[in-house]
Amino acid sequence: MTQASTTVKPDAVGVAHTRVEALDKVTGAARYAGEIPFAELAHGWLVLSTVTRGRITSIDEAAVRALPGVLTVLHHGNAPRVKDDVVGALGRPDPIVEVFQHDRVPHAGWPVALVVAETSEQAREAAEALVVTYAQEPHDVAFHAGRPGVYTPPEMETAKGDLDAQLAASAAVVDAAYTTPEQHHTAMEPHAVTVRWHDGRLELFDSNQGSKWVADDLANLFSLDTSAVHVRSEHVGGAFGSKGLRAHHVAAVMAATELQRPVRVVLTRRQVFATTGYRSPTAQRVRLGADADGRLRAFGHEHLNLTSNLREFVEGGAGFGRSMYDADAHHTVNRVVPVDVATPTWMRAPGEAPGSFAVESALDELAERLGIDPIALRVRNEPTVGPVSGLPFSSRNLLGCFEEGARLFGWAERDPRPRVRRDGRWLLGTGTAASTFPSGAAPSTASVTAEADGSFTVRITASDVGTGARTALGLIAAEALEVAPERVRVRIADSDFGNAWVAGGSMGTRSWGWAVMAAARDLRERLPLAAGEIPEDGITATTDTGALIAQLAQKERYAYGAQFAEVAVDVLSGEVRVRRMLGVFAAGRIVNPLTARSQLVGGMTWGISMALHEEAVRDAASGGYVGADFAGYHVAAHADVPAVRAEWIDDPDPDDPVGIKGIGEIGIVGTAAAIANAVWHATGVRHRDLPIRPDRVLLAEARQDGRPDA
Ligand code: MOS
Repeated sequence: MTQASTTVKPDAVGVAHTRVEALDKVTGAARYAGEIPFAELAHGWLVLSTVTRGRITSIDEAAVRALPGVLTVLHHGNAPRVKDDVVGALGRPDPIVEVFQHDRVPHAGWPVALVVAETSEQAREAAEALVVTYAQEPHDVAFHAGRPGVYTPPEMETAKGDLDAQLAASAAVVDAAYTTPEQHHTAMEPHAVTVRWHDGRLELFDSNQGSKWVADDLANLFSLDTSAVHVRSEHVGGAFGSKGLRAHHVAAVMAATELQRPVRVVLTRRQVFATTGYRSPTAQRVRLGADADGRLRAFGHEHLNLTSNLREFVEGGAGFGRSMYDADAHHTVNRVVPVDVATPTWMRAPGEAPGSFAVESALDELAERLGIDPIALRVRNEPTVGPVSGLPFSSRNLLGCFEEGARLFGWAERDPRPRVRRDGRWLLGTGTAASTFPSGAAPSTASVTAEADGSFTVRITASDVGTGARTALGLIAAEALEVAPERVRVRIADSDFGNAWVAGGSMGTRSWGWAVMAAARDLRERLPLAAGEIPEDGITATTDTGALIAQLAQKERYAYGAQFAEVAVDVLSGEVRVRRMLGVFAAGRIVNPLTARSQLVGGMTWGISMALHEEAVRDAASGGYVGADFAGYHVAAHADVPAVRAEWIDDPDPDDPVGIKGIGEIGIVGTAAAIANAVWHATGVRHRDLPIRPDRVLLAEARQDGRPDA
């Protein structure tokens, strides 16, 4: 076959493309982990603890085994042992994956059994009929600042200068406490996996953020050779940090091994809430002191999150100020407190999302006290090197974002006085906040094959969690190969393709794109040697970016953004409506403007949710959730989301071969602060506890009126 080696300047990177699997998704042809048909498929249903702490004293499995269709009941009395000290590519998996290993219940929703039956309905019926008895022990799930048990993990504190002295010398001081509640990922697709043994290998059809990551963690846990585990995750309906190895994977593997049949476990929404992680609530204190001209003398940020009694998880919100603002005295610390709850995990913009709410709200308070425009205050405090690290920035275009954002939003016409604008019963206000998120790259392996028919195939263990990563990688390959994107097919999410970074940390497309570009360039150099003759199995170039990424100079690497919001507040009902939002980002070269805009708008929409709606409520008496479903846990829906506009300025990363910085998380950072600042501008009231619920707005009004019941 001849190879058409036409060089074109393809409409690839930087040009809007609909995602390549769009038609499959909207027609239902795209199969998700819980939908792929298998012969002889059995269905597992998890049984979760109904108590928060204690021991299992009995499991009446005999009664359940006699129910129609039931194939097995797995629990701590009969399950195989797994290794409990494995450390994978992203650390030790949450101990909740070590299912059925002992009779202890460390928190509500702990998996105590898996019931497997011929049909999903039979499994559910039997699981709900399973009688488990417990010896209950007292629990403590309370979380608030100042509670006992708080500690500072190693290397979680930075300090320079004398904070108290600088605060005392400041013309204006803000010392305020902020809280954010427990929040959940609420991916549209609940977690699901189908497991079978096939040709001597353990095969998983999964919904995850990294198939190699899940495969290796599973291999470790079951002491298998990594080559004996094959994980695929073709389509994923959202993940946001929650889709690594979880309890249902391990339970399904145990069942498939015992039954020697394919076993599927799909979680209900309540089981997703209980077993797949969440963002910890936070309690924060921010202390700022500035000269009359706004220059910061003191910057202090104390950040507290909860963790489980099984594993230490640091949300890390105090990291935000370490790169954003300098001061003569600068102190940041992340503290944790273990309580009897499931372990929290990464959730979109871990650290930066709650941390930015506190710091960017406090800066607005400082601007108010100083009589300085909030944007001017940020301009005055723009650092030239990393405030804590002293490292140079690879590039920092925060002020460019504010400049463009102010222009597009109409900030110059803003009257800074609070509570002076009305639209009928609505009080109107606008607010702004800064946004940032680290821009990283991690080693990945990619291969690109020139096929005999003139097309190209990219293979990489990427995961498209709904971002459009598959499409973006095709565009990057097309640009490097100088061919039209239609000639490139991209195969992802298969652990057999080798090591690659996960869809996380806003590093997916950057890390994978780097590897794909490197392999494609390598292939292009080799193709002329083939003299137009491509063998039947093609010509393949494979690249691992480990060495290249290790050579990156030590710098502060971040993306930036400026968030703007306009709100309307009805102080009679307490309702807050976001009327419009604008985010302007300096977040590297944008590979696919169509899906990138969706990512950023999606992140900003999360910010609306965070500011106004999201809050998982835990019942202190039972230790479990109240309303862990979409009726009880409100996320912003279409009716809550008005005109949300995301724009970007030209900001190619100077050290990335494609120019990417990453856009997965920055959209949510600063958004809640911009909204809270707008609510202050509308009402004159600072809301330092999220979400800004109607009852909180009403209570604040009553306090303003000096009503005795407030
Ligand atoms: Mo995300 S929290 O980096 O999956």
